[in-house]
Amino acid sequence: MDQRAVVTAGTGGIGLETARGLAAAGYAVTVVGRDTERGAGAIERIAEVATGAEPRFVAADLASLDNVRALAARLAAQGPLNVLVNNVGAMFTDRQQTVDGIEASFAVNHLSPYLLTELLLESLRAAAPSRIVNVSSGAVRVAKPTFDAVEPPGGYYGFHWYGRAKLANLAYTLDLAGRLRGTGISVFAADPGGAATEMTNGTMRSPKIVSPGLRLLWPLVRRTFERSTSGPASVAALPSILAATDASLDGQTGLLIGPQARPVPPIRKSTTKDMANDVLRLSRQLAPLTAA
Ligand SMILES: NC(=O)c1ccc[n+]([C@@H]2O[C@H](COP(=O)([O-])OP(=O)(O)OC[C@H]3O[C@@H](n4cnc5c(N)ncnc54)[C@H](OP(=O)(O)O)[C@@H]3O)[C@@H](O)[C@H]2O)c1
Repeated sequence: MDQRAVVTAGTGGIGLETARGLAAAGYAVTVVGRDTERGAGAIERIAEVATGAEPRFVAADLASLDNVRALAARLAAQGPLNVLVNNVGAMFTDRQQTVDGIEASFAVNHLSPYLLTELLLESLRAAAPSRIVNVSSGAVRVAKPTFDAVEPPGGYYGFHWYGRAKLANLAYTLDLAGRLRGTGISVFAADPGGAATEMTNGTMRSPKIVSPGLRLLWPLVRRTFERSTSGPASVAALPSILAATDASLDGQTGLLIGPQARPVPPIRKSTTKDMANDVLRLSRQLAPLTAA
């Protein structure tokens, strides 16, 4: 039977290239996105390189916790799952709330992958050895590492709040790897570095996304953003593809695969047990496995 892989936000950008990489490696790939037409286009692009079963598309808005629960139920019903790539991520210029009333950066970049992962653990266990790959970001470096509440103290700055949500997800990922040790489910984080995608061509052009201090240096900051996100999505997908498939990682877990597609040490603030506990408590409270 074909090995099954799911890639969220897999109809465009880095996710689509990741899905193509997994399909080329023989996985039966399911991609998730919101837009059905875009999903159909992605299926064609993935099928061009697939060496295994036909790719599939499932529609879900990963900013909605109910959509995530429904997606998980649908994916779980399809049987054992070998690879889950939580690739979804988003940055918002202005503060937004999701349909669940939760700040959107935290919901999309952390709660959605957290909830999908937790709900698919049985499917991943059934396929063991299996892998979870959570897509991270270098933006974790500018993040405030406090998670007693969903929103950090201070004003809203999209890039910093995005980085904080990615930091929460990285801490959760490393902690989960420890908790799943011995189950046959390996857990990795993958940092794509940067690529020219919708996300970087959109929100990252506005000075509003950085704190007032950095805004004073905006021409310099903008040039740095542009330089670091000018590459192709196909290269930025390599860390995720390696984390999901490479035999050199068999039996390993809890690694961060860096932009050069090799393991790198995670930033120290992502590895503290207290922070992981705070993130987990907040995640369980805001995103229960079953709807209230
Ligand atoms: N690009 C970079 O330089 C960079 C750097 C560091 C980390 N990353 C991370 O890499 C991952 C991919 O980034 P990217 O730049 O490729 O992003 P992107 O271009 O914005 O990704 C587009 C994909 O995301 C899907 N998507 C967006 N919001 C969604 C939602 N609410 N529900 C379901 N699907 C959704 C889109 O599908 P629809 O249009 O159908 O919704 C499409 O498939 C993210 O986790 C990002 O944080 C990117």
